[in-house]
Amino acid sequence: MEGSAWSRHYPEFARDLAARIKAGRLLDVGTGPGRMLREVHQVAPSIGLFCLDVTQAMIDLARRNLEGITADLRAGPIAHTEFDAEFFDAVTCTKSFYLWDEPAVCLAEVHQILKPGGAAYLYESTRDYDRTAVDAALKKGLTNEGFLRRLLIPWALYKQLGETYSNAEFLEIAERTPFRGACVIDSLPTLPSIWIRVTLSKTA
Ligand SMILES: C[S@@+](CC[C@H](N)C(=O)[O-])C[C@H]1O[C@@H](n2cnc3c(N)ncnc32)[C@H](O)[C@@H]1O
Repeated sequence: MEGSAWSRHYPEFARDLAARIKAGRLLDVGTGPGRMLREVHQVAPSIGLFCLDVTQAMIDLARRNLEGITADLRAGPIAHTEFDAEFFDAVTCTKSFYLWDEPAVCLAEVHQILKPGGAAYLYESTRDYDRTAVDAALKKGLTNEGFLRRLLIPWALYKQLGETYSNAEFLEIAERTPFRGACVIDSLPTLPSIWIRVTLSKTA
């Protein structure tokens, strides 16, 4: 979906993140092809970039896409990482959290590798979306796409929206982790009924 209406939210996610962290070490979990970190590097080049993805093929693809950008790329699951405790200033992910097995275990690991005062920012879709608004946005956003993409993009989006969590479920998962009481959900300006930022703060 590179370059389409449906990848335009990455620059917005990156700007939103850069407003919260200006420097230090950032881990992008479930980095996939590396879109988010490429955008983060554009807007905040002094942030130290680290990527983790459970799929080696994705890490290989991210390495190619991030050519020329210094980044530490590793394959492995977020549930148990090799990073030292309190190593990162921030952790992020885009469209990945809903796929994590044992999400509470994974968030406990995220908490462990974050510095006190740091935070995780999950840019995810929510199942609490407004179907009419999404249908209208798809219709408008896909007018210049080819026939196949006009079919495939809505199919992929609604499939993802069917699999993701509701806001209440995000909060319930966070309650079972060391982030208890420190989870805030905000909607984002792009496709506001779909995209949310889940902020999980580690007490300083
Ligand atoms: C839908 S893709 C999103 C990729 C990328 N963040 C993006 O927005 O383009 C989800 C990614 O999360 C990764 N992933 C799923 N579960 C994971 C886990 N437990 N630990 C690390 N990565 C995981 C998958 O391998 C996949 O690359």
